[in-house]
Amino acid sequence: MNHSELERIARGMVAPGKGILAADESTGTIKKRFDAIAFESTETNRQLYREMLLAAPGINEAISGVIMYDETLRQKTRAGVPFPQHLASLGIFPGIKVDQGAKPLANFPNETVTEGLDGLRERLKEYHGLGARFAKWRAVIDIGAGYPTRFCIEANAHALARYAALCQEQGIVPIVEPEVLMDGAHSLETCEAVTDEVLCETFRALAAHRVHLEGIVLKPNMVISGKKNAARATPEQVAEATVRCLRRWVSPAVPGIAFLSGGQSTTEATLHLSLMNRQPLPWALTFSYGRALQDSALKAWGGKPANFEAGQREFMRRARLNGLAAKGGYTADMESGAA
Ligand code: 13P
Repeated sequence: MNHSELERIARGMVAPGKGILAADESTGTIKKRFDAIAFESTETNRQLYREMLLAAPGINEAISGVIMYDETLRQKTRAGVPFPQHLASLGIFPGIKVDQGAKPLANFPNETVTEGLDGLRERLKEYHGLGARFAKWRAVIDIGAGYPTRFCIEANAHALARYAALCQEQGIVPIVEPEVLMDGAHSLETCEAVTDEVLCETFRALAAHRVHLEGIVLKPNMVISGKKNAARATPEQVAEATVRCLRRWVSPAVPGIAFLSGGQSTTEATLHLSLMNRQPLPWALTFSYGRALQDSALKAWGGKPANFEAGQREFMRRARLNGLAAKGGYTADMESGAA
């Protein structure tokens, strides 16, 4: 394992003013996104949509890495260039989702554990050969009456750490993603307490598995009130609580933290990131958004060939605004003007 190469990639993934595009929706998830615009989810259509995003003019000005799904990693641009090579030629790191989804945790109602460790070493070898330089594994922690349990948090942290160690062994930077969901009716305080426990346990497991912290990127949730909570926390409260929580648990050895958007609106996700970046921080703080980068572009495109460029422009508008937010330079009034 070459630590300096892992460190170089990890630092590049969180380069100043840039962030990661999460475009690794599984075939089931992308179908849901296409259903919303009444667009059929065929392999050809999925290629077309991913090409709209990955070949958007100027993408490398705001995007440092793209997380792909197995199918996308093997697809090509219409000009015949494999997507990983297309991205690499623009100085963008190709990434791959390697987990196989959150599955019910036996004997623990309402809780899940992420699967995909069996055979992972061989899959990572193949993905590296196809051009992937980083990977993603998402653990899911839900909040409800009586959960999450300590056992669920430990089981997920253990799997994340085994995944991270295997990635580094194969020269691939692991994105370590322990996501505390914002779907419930819980308060910001509850989210903070659960996120505290999850990050503490995740970093304990990473240390136990001898993971090289300088060669990972952490992808956490923000500390935020649940979507069903009528008293939503303000953007300032979210920014303050998130940074406070991360400072407690994330060693400054970690080069960067790239947030998931988790169901926040596109503008909320950008504002929260910008507010957090208005102070000196021990790590780079940027985005690894899926929905918050894609939703408005998907709508602007609508699956219509005539709107292909309009979709690209909308994607780039959000990518650039989030790039500004990664430097603390975004304000809400930029939404109306040109980015
Ligand atoms: P969202 O930003 O839509 O939460 O997706 C990010 C991601 O990669 C989830 O695993």
